[in-house]
Amino acid sequence: SAAEKGGWSSFMAKEVAEEPEAVANTILGRVKDGQVVIPELDGMDELFAGVQRIIIVACGTASYAGQVGKYAIEQWARIPVDVELAHEFRYRDPIVGPETLVVSISQSGETMDTLMAVKEAARLGAKTLSICNTQGATIPRESDAIVYTHAGPEVAVASTKAFVAQITALYLLALHVGRIRGTVSPAEAARSIHELEALPEKIRWILENEQEHIEQLAHWMADTRSVLFLGRHVGFPIALEGALKLKELSYIHAEGFAAGELKHGPIALIEPGQPVFVMVPSPRGAATLHAKVVSNIEEIRARGARVIAIAEEGDVAVLPFADEVLRIPLAGPIFEPILAVVPLHIFAMGLANAKGLDVDQPRNLAKSVTVE
Ligand code: G6P
Repeated sequence: SAAEKGGWSSFMAKEVAEEPEAVANTILGRVKDGQVVIPELDGMDELFAGVQRIIIVACGTASYAGQVGKYAIEQWARIPVDVELAHEFRYRDPIVGPETLVVSISQSGETMDTLMAVKEAARLGAKTLSICNTQGATIPRESDAIVYTHAGPEVAVASTKAFVAQITALYLLALHVGRIRGTVSPAEAARSIHELEALPEKIRWILENEQEHIEQLAHWMADTRSVLFLGRHVGFPIALEGALKLKELSYIHAEGFAAGELKHGPIALIEPGQPVFVMVPSPRGAATLHAKVVSNIEEIRARGARVIAIAEEGDVAVLPFADEVLRIPLAGPIFEPILAVVPLHIFAMGLANAKGLDVDQPRNLAKSVTVE
């Protein structure tokens, strides 16, 4: 009903507006004396100290959160991470044992494919940890440990605020485990926590300063038949998420690629007028990454692509080649996904709205898929 939407035009609009709180509430109560301490994981230090491998299982948007989380866990906890679609993991006779931690990610906690993967992992002797947004759901009940995301109830079928909360929870987990293993220095942990805590305000900045611009862009693009998304490093899963949202909500062809793959195939798709969103890594991060993505932009632009760059404030290198620049505030390179995804959520919602589609209930989709 209108009352439940709290004055918003859709649940999705409300939930995108709640992305800052979703991040803030997921951090709440998990920082102590400048270190991440997740109280729910009390008593698991020995397990985290000994674990040799992490496999993340999830479906849909949650699997892209997992792909982002892999970078953080490997960086801070120095444990090798594989990310797998839950339904693929379940049916390929995976090699897992007691030294493996299987981390599932699910907003609803009821996705059957993910639940079956968790059960299979437990049967094979792995320890299981659930990152979930729904208290008392089946997947957390079936898991050895739980880290709840505190995004609040998500109603719109397409996941938005739960996604940024999932990435936040994975970063907290990475810092928690990194502290236990001694793989992240207290100084770096403190810096990272500071960055995490600053994200809600930066998301708010995007909503306040870029939302109208993005909605206008979506309106102009209402007749677009296909949109491509390019990203590199942590921007790659965000490109995949941007494409998924567009498919789900506006029923047009959309595909995300790793920017480095461009020359190995996808560049053949570029023809005059083809819209391409590019996640531009911070020039303050690995300089080579930024330069490589800028040169990707030049390459596709030379072939007529219409480039929409998502770039941090002050990055002028993209200006000569981008048709549109959507700005995000400065953040440490690994934290950018939580910001860069916000314009993509707004864009997908805006395009669906421009086409007169139901953004909360897209055709053929269910909020939680409880069949395999
Ligand atoms: C469904 C939804 C997606 C969601 C996926 C995983 O397919 O339509 O939006 O990403 O399930 O859901 P979960 O509840 O496990 O995060």
